[in-house]
Amino acid sequence: MTPVEDRFANMALLIGEACALLNARGVVVAANQPMFGLLGQRIANYPMERFIRHQDFVETLRAAREDGRVSELSYTRTDKLRRQLHLRVAPFEREHVLVVIVDKTDTISIDRIRSDFVANVSHELRSPLSAVSGFIETLRDGAGEDRQTRDKFLAIMQAEAERMQRLIDDLLSLSRVEAMEHHTPNDKVDLHALLEQTIAALSAQAMAKQMRFAWHLEAPLGPDACCVLGMADELRQVFQNLIENAIRYGDAGSVIELGFMPEPDQPGFLRVEVLNQGPVIEKQDIARLTERFYRIDAGRARDMGGTGLGLAIVKHIVNRHQGRLRIASSPENTRFCVTLRRHA
Ligand SMILES: Nc1ncnc2c1ncn2[C@@H]1O[C@H](COP(=O)(O)OP(=O)(O)OP(=O)(O)O)[C@@H](O)[C@H]1O
Ligand SMILES: [Mg+2]
Repeated sequence: MTPVEDRFANMALLIGEACALLNARGVVVAANQPMFGLLGQRIANYPMERFIRHQDFVETLRAAREDGRVSELSYTRTDKLRRQLHLRVAPFEREHVLVVIVDKTDTISIDRIRSDFVANVSHELRSPLSAVSGFIETLRDGAGEDRQTRDKFLAIMQAEAERMQRLIDDLLSLSRVEAMEHHTPNDKVDLHALLEQTIAALSAQAMAKQMRFAWHLEAPLGPDACCVLGMADELRQVFQNLIENAIRYGDAGSVIELGFMPEPDQPGFLRVEVLNQGPVIEKQDIARLTERFYRIDAGRARDMGGTGLGLAIVKHIVNRHQGRLRIASSPENTRFCVTLRRHA
């Protein structure tokens, strides 16, 4: 190893990012492990421009070598996996050039997810908020004199305010569940009783659409058979959303079926099913239902009071319980299955 390469090796160790040392002809004379990991072992003793196909790369090498200038380049690699790389090129001792590459792919995609999320939340809050301010203005302009009009507007304002409240409650519960995702809750929860309570709480909603509930329990399930390991409040949230969805999106006048059965291929697990009759959910929609704010028919779902966060919360809670959520839809019915660990 030449003294230059030796000093490079020490420095590369310190930096930790992918580093390469190029000689006056732009050939890679040394590189650290992260650089080999990124571009492959094949770069050793070859001109680096063969592996970085960016029109300005050769010019930045020249600028570093001849003018002693430090330059930066953003570069998207499209072979194999698409990666967003950030290159820094600097002069290094006599005639050599140092290239450092930072992989920004993950940071960029996290930033994108975060900004999409903020845009979604703002969008969801904007319409109820502008409705409320619009009505306040109309009331102040004199529409409040007429009692009937005033009551009508106030009722709409209340509904819009409740919608914002629901959205904020859902966001808070999503972030709470996410923060706890790696703690598995282990209380004994009687799911049969929990589902009975949930149905009772939603019976008015079901009645308004002339829907009724039916149980199908599969033998052999003893008295303790419907007990699982988990946290009652969170599991209530899961089934409240699944059953509420079945009422909201199911056909008026149809039957919503609830079932328990031992999970066939997973001893020690219990499967709970919520089935409804209604429009078939297409495959590509099924794959995206648990994304935040994803609604199949956004306008229609929003009119029904949905925020599109329900299934995202369900998914996180089920994950935290080390369970599984499966969704299937056919002309016959739409089926949401939750598999949970049984209480022994
Ligand atoms: N049983 C179902 N049948 C048909 N479509 C459904 C069913 N359950 C959910 N969906 C679709 O999935 C979307 C997302 O459901 P999710 O529960 O996440 O949100 P939401 O019901 O719109 O709002 P929220 O639950 O936050 O009040 C719904 O908007 C609806 O389009
Ligand atoms: Mg819902």
